[in-house]
Amino acid sequence: MSAPGYELLGWWEAERRDLPWRATRDPWAVLVSELMLQQTQVARVEPRWHRFLERFPTPAACAAAGPGAVVEEWAGLGYNRRAVNLHRCAVAVVDEHGGRFPDDLAALLALPGIGPYTARAVLAFAFERDVAVVDTNVGRILARTAGRRLGARDAQERADSLVPEGEGWAWNQAMLDLGATVCSKRSPACDRCPVAASCAWALAGRPGPDPALGSHAVSRGQSRFEGSFRQGRSRLLDVLRLGSPVPPAAWAAACGWDGRPDGAVDAERAAASLVADGLAVRLADGSLRLP
Ligand code: ADE
Repeated sequence: MSAPGYELLGWWEAERRDLPWRATRDPWAVLVSELMLQQTQVARVEPRWHRFLERFPTPAACAAAGPGAVVEEWAGLGYNRRAVNLHRCAVAVVDEHGGRFPDDLAALLALPGIGPYTARAVLAFAFERDVAVVDTNVGRILARTAGRRLGARDAQERADSLVPEGEGWAWNQAMLDLGATVCSKRSPACDRCPVAASCAWALAGRPGPDPALGSHAVSRGQSRFEGSFRQGRSRLLDVLRLGSPVPPAAWAAACGWDGRPDGAVDAERAAASLVADGLAVRLADGSLRLP
């Protein structure tokens, strides 16, 4: 057999990371943790997760606060659009579900900002369902244990078929930990891997290319942030977070593009894209502020 089995759960009992979001089954708290963890490391997420939930303890509290407050609280967490989507999701949970998260896949997928990974994460980690989450870490394990690059359907089916009955919660946490601490991207520690004996890639002596490369859900890494358009746009948003409206004449400097040949044009483009993404609104005098 070339697939992880119960030995993974045994390993996890001893090696599990005690992370705060593992002590709750509140779907809102789980959702917030999952969205934060999609772009930020565990250690940085921990304090921010607590702080976010203190400020917005429920979907209703978040919905009532408005998108600007959520964008403000998201500072430094990256991928700011997620903050807007999270607020939209909170509004939909309140308006369409009476403030309580639905516990089926189709209804979760219908919520704004919730894709296949996040919907399954809420099902597994809040409702303890036997569905599999496939993020970049899990995608890597799936491809390596299978010994080949997997397509989307193949990866999800394979992942779902591995979940031991009644163990969806622990199994998925264990897979995430295995991917983060053992089956790492660059230097997998096969010598201490609980599933090496059933891993096709390890058994074959880890021939190149790594089957994880280009396999479903395995990230290819982000393009450079330093000096990018995204960086300038993100700086402009940071200035908006200070609270006062920012007039067009100040945009290029806010982006860090003052004196650059196309600085003003690019800053206008950054402003327009913030508005298009719901991260900012334009006032009558043309200045920008948080929504
Ligand atoms: N990454 C995504 N979800 C996670 C979780 N529940 N624990 C640790 N890392 C994660």
